[in-house]
Amino acid sequence: MEVITIGNNKGGVGKTMQCYQLSCYLANKGHKVLVIDLDSQANLSSTFGVQIQRTLVPEWLIGDVGINDVIVKPEMSGKLYKNIRLIPASRHLSNLSKLLILSEGEIRKEAGRKERLLRKRLQDANLDFDYVIIDTPPMLGDELIMSLVASNRVLIPTQAQDYSIDGLEELMDTFEIIKETENPSLEFSIIPSMVNPRRKIEQARMEELSQSFNITPMVRNMVQLQESISTRRPVCVMGAKSAGRRDYEELWKSLNL
Ligand SMILES: Nc1ncnc2c1ncn2[C@@H]1O[C@H](COP(=O)(O)OP(=O)(O)OP(=O)(O)O)[C@@H](O)[C@H]1O
Ligand SMILES: [Mg+2]
Repeated sequence: MEVITIGNNKGGVGKTMQCYQLSCYLANKGHKVLVIDLDSQANLSSTFGVQIQRTLVPEWLIGDVGINDVIVKPEMSGKLYKNIRLIPASRHLSNLSKLLILSEGEIRKEAGRKERLLRKRLQDANLDFDYVIIDTPPMLGDELIMSLVASNRVLIPTQAQDYSIDGLEELMDTFEIIKETENPSLEFSIIPSMVNPRRKIEQARMEELSQSFNITPMVRNMVQLQESISTRRPVCVMGAKSAGRRDYEELWKSLNL
């Protein structure tokens, strides 16, 4: 089972889009996929047709309920969705950090540190999935850190713009600390996201990015991708000529997915 986090502390860079497209692509290929929405905005959950009043994810992480109490089926018809299960989010997830502090004593006894909780829950559950895909909120908080500790790799969508590139440094520092302390085999890939390759400034930023990092093929900015979310139609089921599908397929191939 491979665990993949999609993360960037910068908001609106295409994390949830990446999670949706990747989960559907893998499921469409016949893989069993568990999608975990760790963002209290719950955008990914609603894209899978799931809106819940109150997520039990904090209780699951703390150990008060089992994984079967948090896993649901997507509320979507279509063959590929049969291969997907979802741990949905809701607003209540924004209390996670507070709840973790309240349970500090128990967590220390059971997992040692709160950062290890998600990894422990996934390991203890003995899951029958090929992939776990985790969407995370736009901040360097407990959700993202726990996900990095639990993952084999992190995919980092990044826009080819100044502030996005500056923000990467903070994320890479965290990545390095986690690699050195909790998860030495963690790998990362930087994905240029929502790129307008005709804009000179974005070309220059892409060039800059590629000097500092080994970047993947880009996903361009396309109305078609916004429509893919609003119509709940992932690019993997679009025609072979679809530009969105081509960008994503090239990306996934480069990532050996
Ligand atoms: N390649 C793209 N082309 C056009 N629109 C895109 C693309 N990727 C994402 N979008 C749109 O941009 C908006 C932000 O994308 P998304 O929600 O995936 O970002 P995010 O990083 O998850 O945001 P947040 O940090 O708030 O969770 C959405 O409306 C989405 O449909
Ligand atoms: Mg998001």
